[in-house]
Amino acid sequence: MLTPRQGPAFATPGPEVETLSSARAAAQDCRRCDLYRNATHLVFGEGPPRARVLLVGEQPGDKEDLAGAPFVGPSGQLLDRCLEKAGIDRDLCYVTNAVKHFKFEPRGKRRIHSKPNVGEVQACAWWLAAELRFVKPQLVVALGATALYSLLGRGAKVTRDRGAVLKTPDMPPVLVTIHPSALLRTLNRPEAAVNQERFVADLAKIADFL
Ligand code: URA
Repeated sequence: MLTPRQGPAFATPGPEVETLSSARAAAQDCRRCDLYRNATHLVFGEGPPRARVLLVGEQPGDKEDLAGAPFVGPSGQLLDRCLEKAGIDRDLCYVTNAVKHFKFEPRGKRRIHSKPNVGEVQACAWWLAAELRFVKPQLVVALGATALYSLLGRGAKVTRDRGAVLKTPDMPPVLVTIHPSALLRTLNRPEAAVNQERFVADLAKIADFL
């Protein structure tokens, strides 16, 4: 059961902001958790400021951290291809992440993705809540478990709710699907094509809201 006041409502309070661009500017100095220390850029959401659809991923990856833009690396390229197959124009969507700094473990010259913890998600939910408040989308798409947790708390599960559009009092409807990186991990397996088709079918549900 989803209760009101879950999701970004559970964010620890932060600076009050009046507009999306002032939220973006204020976030640049964010010290609400320690992830800013090692990241190159804070990666805020991008897209039309009054987009009807807002997509939420987990956190920027290596490429996004360097570019300062969301979903520009391998996951983003796969997402773009699947959106296109689903007949959705990414340029009409606002694309963001639950956590706005890249969390990683250095391994030699590489930076290995590390999952954000609950405290980091809650700290950053302040910014996601601001994006939702100003963009006012008609549909939010949760790409994977971290995004879904940030939006709806523990009441929703990707495994159970995938493909559903969940409605709660505090939030626009939330379409639940997987994170595209899950597809990247199974790219060489026999089930890869079926997995991708299922993801495309989930994304095709966005069309009703565009
Ligand atoms: N994965 C995400 O969740 N977000 C990005 O921006 C890139 C990869």
